[in-house]
Amino acid sequence: MTGPLISVRDLRVHFPIRGGFLGRPIGWLKAVDGVDLDIAPGESLALVGESGCGKSTLGATILGMQRATAGRIIFNGEDVTSDASVRRADLSRDIQIVFQDPVSALNPKLTIGESIAEPLIVHGTGTREERRRRVAELLELVGLNPGHADRKPNAFSGGQRQRIVIARAIALQPKLLILDEPVSALDVSIRSQILNLLLELQQRLGLSYLFISHDLSVVRHFADRVAVMYLGRIAETGSTAEVFANPVHPYTEALLSAVPLPDPKAQRHRQRIILQGDLPSPANPPAGCRFSTRCPIAVPICRTISPELEALQQGGHSAACHVRAPHS
Ligand SMILES: Nc1ncnc2c1ncn2[C@@H]1O[C@H](COP(=O)(O)OP(=O)(O)OP(=O)(O)O)[C@@H](O)[C@H]1O
Ligand SMILES: [Mg+2]
Repeated sequence: MTGPLISVRDLRVHFPIRGGFLGRPIGWLKAVDGVDLDIAPGESLALVGESGCGKSTLGATILGMQRATAGRIIFNGEDVTSDASVRRADLSRDIQIVFQDPVSALNPKLTIGESIAEPLIVHGTGTREERRRRVAELLELVGLNPGHADRKPNAFSGGQRQRIVIARAIALQPKLLILDEPVSALDVSIRSQILNLLLELQQRLGLSYLFISHDLSVVRHFADRVAVMYLGRIAETGSTAEVFANPVHPYTEALLSAVPLPDPKAQRHRQRIILQGDLPSPANPPAGCRFSTRCPIAVPICRTISPELEALQQGGHSAACHVRAPHS
């Protein structure tokens, strides 16, 4: 297959704001508001942006945990825009998620072997003995001792628990893993171990990743491509190397200016861009470009017309900015 594994087109997820007569909505919180993205087989796409910009909502909608208000999700060439209750079983096998907190993700009453075997049982995969062997294989794959399958989660550290969660997520051989801040809850000292495990698994199993993070220094080493989100829309996207080297959108520039540079000399000359004003509410986003209220280079058109993502010269790099990437 040569096409993308997943394509998202003009996806919108709006939550009703209740409070009107008989609980009628008095408005809509536009958590995701017109997002396009593609992920190729075996590719990792990082989704970055400030808290509340809609990253998890986008991930949950791709997973089928959240209903789309409008737009389309195409998986393996097939329209799968619907919530999990009506999605086919093979699709729920193909897309799995890993959340931030491995403690709440594991049932403390089950052995870790039982937790890892759960999706296999739900999907009626294998005999008891085959599942036992698969669990041992999965534990080994994530760098844990297969002999520890009968232990409870509390016998493991945070990093080890996240390995267990990852083993469970790959048990059914999914094609796409949504990683929603997979290392944010972990000790800084063990984050890179888990990230390396994820990179290794991606290589070995040919997985695609949607890697949700607000930590750009992690993204730089992890993802093939990056999409920068601001208030429910993509501000800029491109290969990670290209976006980090030549950010075009002023929001990307501001985010990157806060990331420490590997070269201490370059770091000393680096100007930190501090954004003015607060992040507006997605219930009441600014007219025109959503970033216009905080943008240091905004011109009048930015306050009236919302810019579309425009392709730049470099392959695959595009930005939504009237000033830096004007519509041609
Ligand atoms: N089920 C829901 N009902 C109503 N509003 C929601 C719901 N889920 C999310 N929101 C709102 O949608 C917006 C986007 O939330 P989301 O969790 O997707 O952001 P995020 O980018 O993942 O943030 P963070 O970095 O903090 O995890 C927020 O304003 C949030 O309050
Ligand atoms: Mg989130």
